[in-house]
Amino acid sequence: MFKRLKEKWKLSWTSFVLVFSTFAIGGSSCGYLGRKLLTLTGLESGVFYYVLYIVLMCLLWPLCVIIVSIPMGQFGFFRNYLRKMSQTIFGVSSKAPKPQNGSFSVKKRNLALFASGAGSNAQKIIEHFEGHPSIRVSLIVCNKPGAGVLQIAANNDVPVLMIEKKDFEHGNMYVKELSKYEIDFIVLAGFLWKMPEAFLNAFPRHMINIHPSLLPKFGGKGMYGSRVHEAVIAAGEKESGITIHYVNAHYDEGEHLFQATCTVDATDTPDTLASKVHALEHLHFARVIEDVIEGKL
Ligand code: GRF
Repeated sequence: MFKRLKEKWKLSWTSFVLVFSTFAIGGSSCGYLGRKLLTLTGLESGVFYYVLYIVLMCLLWPLCVIIVSIPMGQFGFFRNYLRKMSQTIFGVSSKAPKPQNGSFSVKKRNLALFASGAGSNAQKIIEHFEGHPSIRVSLIVCNKPGAGVLQIAANNDVPVLMIEKKDFEHGNMYVKELSKYEIDFIVLAGFLWKMPEAFLNAFPRHMINIHPSLLPKFGGKGMYGSRVHEAVIAAGEKESGITIHYVNAHYDEGEHLFQATCTVDATDTPDTLASKVHALEHLHFARVIEDVIEGKL
């Protein structure tokens, strides 16, 4: 039962335990507070007592869990949980298209983010397109259970598609899955598997990747994460940076769209260089995505 709930909520085991504890602590403090407040009314039993008790529980419960979720570090999860709950109860959906000047808004382009790491780029991209008039992040595709990006998806209410290597590499099951979300454009942000033909054919010039070096240097199979920065420092490079490029059938070889540079200082370690490169990614990636989708690049 716990496993099924954990998968439904798309949480790592640590977050799941914290969320579960929040429900438990929030729920019991709500019961305790409710009873304390009822003693002030002087009532001890009877229909009115129970009606009042239920009303108090309904009002106090969301308040208690949201307060407890803050020190538990689970505020994002509970904010979305309560939002969804109120949508179910009151029948309002934040996903429904909103009328504008009497008509419905133009169809948005749907972006799928493929990410299997911490998801700091995914977070920036989601923030950038929040409220955007014509582009929205509609799906996060991930191949790593427990990846940080799954928590980011949950916090931001973005649906997740978990994928398996065998099905990804053979056939077009996941291409079909993406069409259910009407995906127009794919962004790889920390996704390490090579793109199979089915995806390349379905998204020609509609799929881009970010790489943490100045390609063509320090790219290719096995060049990811700190390995890139270690290699840059070992080679005595004076400059590193980021490359945003179209995706083709070979690792990191698609046509370049954008590069930005940073210095590599004598004192840099792979970690300090990684921070400089991440800062460049966070500064430029979302804007470049927007420019590519809008045909400005
Ligand atoms: C980034 O450094 C990106 O260049 C590479 O994967 C990393 C993802 O980082 N392709 P994060 O998960 O977005 O923090």
